[in-house]
Order: sequence, then C-alpha cells, then structure tokens
Amino acid sequence: MQDLNGAIISFKADFLNELNAADSEKSLDQVRISFLGRSGKIVELMNSIKELSAEDKKIFGPLLNELKKSCEEAFEQKKKLIEDLTLKAAGTKKESFDVTSYKTNQLKGSLHPYTHVKEQIENVFISMGYKIVEGPELEDDYHNFGALNIPSDHPARDIQDTFWLDLPGKLMRTHTSNAQVHVMELGKLPLAVFSTGRCYRNEATDASHDFVFMQAECLVIDKNISLANLFATIKVLLQAIFERDNLNIRVRPGYFPFVEPGIEVDMECPFCKAGCSVCKKTRWIEMGGSGLVHPNVLKSCGIDSDEYSGFAFGFGLTRLVMLKYGINDVRLLNSGKLEFLEQFK
Ligand code: PHE
Repeated sequence: MQDLNGAIISFKADFLNELNAADSEKSLDQVRISFLGRSGKIVELMNSIKELSAEDKKIFGPLLNELKKSCEEAFEQKKKLIEDLTLKAAGTKKESFDVTSYKTNQLKGSLHPYTHVKEQIENVFISMGYKIVEGPELEDDYHNFGALNIPSDHPARDIQDTFWLDLPGKLMRTHTSNAQVHVMELGKLPLAVFSTGRCYRNEATDASHDFVFMQAECLVIDKNISLANLFATIKVLLQAIFERDNLNIRVRPGYFPFVEPGIEVDMECPFCKAGCSVCKKTRWIEMGGSGLVHPNVLKSCGIDSDEYSGFAFGFGLTRLVMLKYGINDVRLLNSGKLEFLEQFK
C-alpha cells in the first residue's frame, strides 16, 4: 500500500517533469505513449489495484482515477499550447484571422464604348416597337449594291471603295443598308427594324477614318410613311444618345441611289451654343444619309410600291460614339488598348 502511494507520487512527478520538457508535437506524443498510452505506466498502476484488499481498493481506486484524470487534463493543456505555438510560427494565427481582409486579385472588364451606345439606342428602338436585326458582314454584290438600285455600271459604286474578296461576287459590306434588303426579302409587312454593325471601306486610315467602322441603320415600311416620320425618328435617336430633351436637326438634299428623295441630316451641336471645335464653329454636325425608300428598291424586294412606302437612314455609329465620349482618334476604338477601354465602365 505504501508502495502504491509512493508510485503514484513519483508517477505524477515524472509525468509533470517530462510534460514540461516536451517542446514539440513529437516529444509530447512520446510522453503520452509512455505515461498515458495503452501500455503506458498508468496502466501498470491501474492493474496493481487488483492485488489490494477490498478496503484499500476503496481508497486507491478513486485516487488512481483522479490521477489519470488530472494527468490527462494537464496533457491536453500542454498539447494546445504547443499547437498554438506551431501555428504562430507558421504565421497563421487562428484567433486573429480576418475574413474581411481577404481580397482576390480580380481583373474587372468594361464594356466597349460601342456596346454602351448600341445598347442605349437599341433600348430606345425596342421601346418604339422596332425589331433589332443583323445583316451579314460578308456580303454579295446584289445585297450590298444591286438590290439597292446600284447596278454594276453605276458611278455610285465609286462612292464606296469596296473590299472585294477572291470569292466571285463577294465583298465586305460597305454599309449596313444590306440589312434592309435581307429584311424586305422576308416579305413580312409592315416592318420596323433597327440594325448596327461593322462596315468596311478600302480607304487610307487617319484620325477620323478607319477602314472598318460602325453604322446604325433604320428601316420602316408601311402604308403612308412620310418624311415627317423619318425626321421625328432621327430626333428621338439623337436625343437619346446625347441625353437631351430637344436637339434640332437640319436637312439638306443628298444623293443615295436607294432613296428618293435623298436627304443628308445635320444635328445641332450638342456641345455649344455659339460654335466650338467639335462643330468647327458651324453649330451643325453631319450625321449621315436618309430618305424615302426608292420604288426600285421596293420592287427588287417584291414590295408593291403603290401600296407601301418607307423611310430609311444610315448614320455613322463610330462618329456618334466619338462625339458622345469626346474621342479624338478613331483608331483607338479598335486598338484593344486597355488604358483606353478601361475608361468606359
Ligand atoms: N448607306 C448609306 C451610306 O453608307 C447611308 C444611307 C442609309 C443613306 C439609308 C440613305 C438611307 O452612306
């Protein structure tokens, strides 16, 4: 009995000594195995209880249980201490981990200025009941010229320097007016369509000309369509782009083989009251061509020109975007330069 008492005291002393000395997870585990493990010293002590008298069992049973419990608790405390120290050493302090400080290195994209303006004006046309359509960029002679009242020997072909392809009769469209032909050929009347897209002209480039540029095209065919409808629609478009309640337009006669009368449209300068560098002190800015659809065009597309009439206009979307954002070199638009594009969130 005295032996067991001494054994308990020296067990505890040895255990605490070794526990204090342990300074790593590995040495700590060794302490656990030799003192508290399945074949550790505590098991020997526990087994020795069998040899005791019933009376001594009553004394030493709880004592040994108490010893085991307190040693296990001391062990757990030390284990936690060592774990914390290891984490600290690894530079990942569990307690002070700040979830809000986490920041991914995200690259945010931005929309191209074309996309901003295109969406803005498409919304206006959709709200007026128009359908948004697209014409092909790779086109044939007939849809780009022939059906638009520009036969192959017509001098008007020289106005638009064309990129002809090696494929016979194929070209890159010179204007979005080809979309007019495709829509009219479908034969569904009345119609009101709006279309934007790339056009190509075989020209030298400079700050205000690119060989590829964007146009915006509008076509309406119905009974009793007049120039009043055309002018009102153009005003709605320009007022939407420049976010103005009232923006006047000025019209002049112009020649386009596919409209009669043909009309050139100027817009009141949205940036000044008395002349500025944008309007070159004239107060007016050229916008593009328009007119009432030529009866020959209606005929080519199988529409009875006695019953139906229509208006069409085609504006340089590139020019409108440059005006709206004050972009002074057209070449920036297709440059892919991020520092330029990032400005248009
Ligand atoms: N397609 C013509 C151009 O590119 C513009 C236009 C469109 C003129 C519709 C009249 C009617 O110059």
